[in-house]
Amino acid sequence: MPRRRCSLAPDWGHDVYEPVTDPVLPMAETSLRDAMSRFATGITVLTVGGEQTHGMTANAFSSVSLDPPLVLCCVSRTAVMHDAITNTKRFAVSIMGAEQEPTARYFADRRRPRGAAQFEAVDWLPGPRTGAPLLSGALAWVECELTQWYEGGDHSIFLGQVLSCSRSEGTRALLFYGSQFHQVDTR
Ligand SMILES: Cc1cc2nc3c(=O)[nH]c(=O)nc-3n(C[C@H](O)[C@H](O)[C@H](O)COP(=O)(O)O)c2cc1C
Repeated sequence: MPRRRCSLAPDWGHDVYEPVTDPVLPMAETSLRDAMSRFATGITVLTVGGEQTHGMTANAFSSVSLDPPLVLCCVSRTAVMHDAITNTKRFAVSIMGAEQEPTARYFADRRRPRGAAQFEAVDWLPGPRTGAPLLSGALAWVECELTQWYEGGDHSIFLGQVLSCSRSEGTRALLFYGSQFHQVDTR
């Protein structure tokens, strides 16, 4: 592919190249969605317990820091989960295994029941530190206390201090890539 030297490159002592085809500006929402569909992610279900009991599928989740232990997730400002997290300031993350595509679809479906009733469709246990539902069959679970949140356009970026984490013996993960679910064996 033809390349040209990047005009914004800092002086790193070597050439940094950018594609000759510039991104179309202003950035269309659809083009960003399409570009980001090339980035493979895991799938999580975020949960909150207590009076705000709620669950929501999210792939905008990342490890941030090991010391202190921090993770982040990005939640739409219009999602029910947004107020559930800001009100309780505690949440949990269940990292989906390969067999949990139906669960991921369920917690992304706005027609699911509200409150505790939505968890009657799945097996779960209350997180020991947050009371938030930890979904059975997940590959790993993380419980968090909300320490900071930041505006991120139509989403908020929630930074969570990890209160506890654990993992199962499962090895097959659920991925999201190219706007589709995929299964991968992590052994
Ligand atoms: C694969 C997948 C990943 C998603 N990731 C996110 C995400 O990271 N953040 C978000 O706010 N919504 C995400 N969504 C959309 C929400 O799951 C969906 O809008 C949900 O119904 C919102 O629930 P609530 O408004 O009841 O909280 C995702 C949906 C799918 C199918």
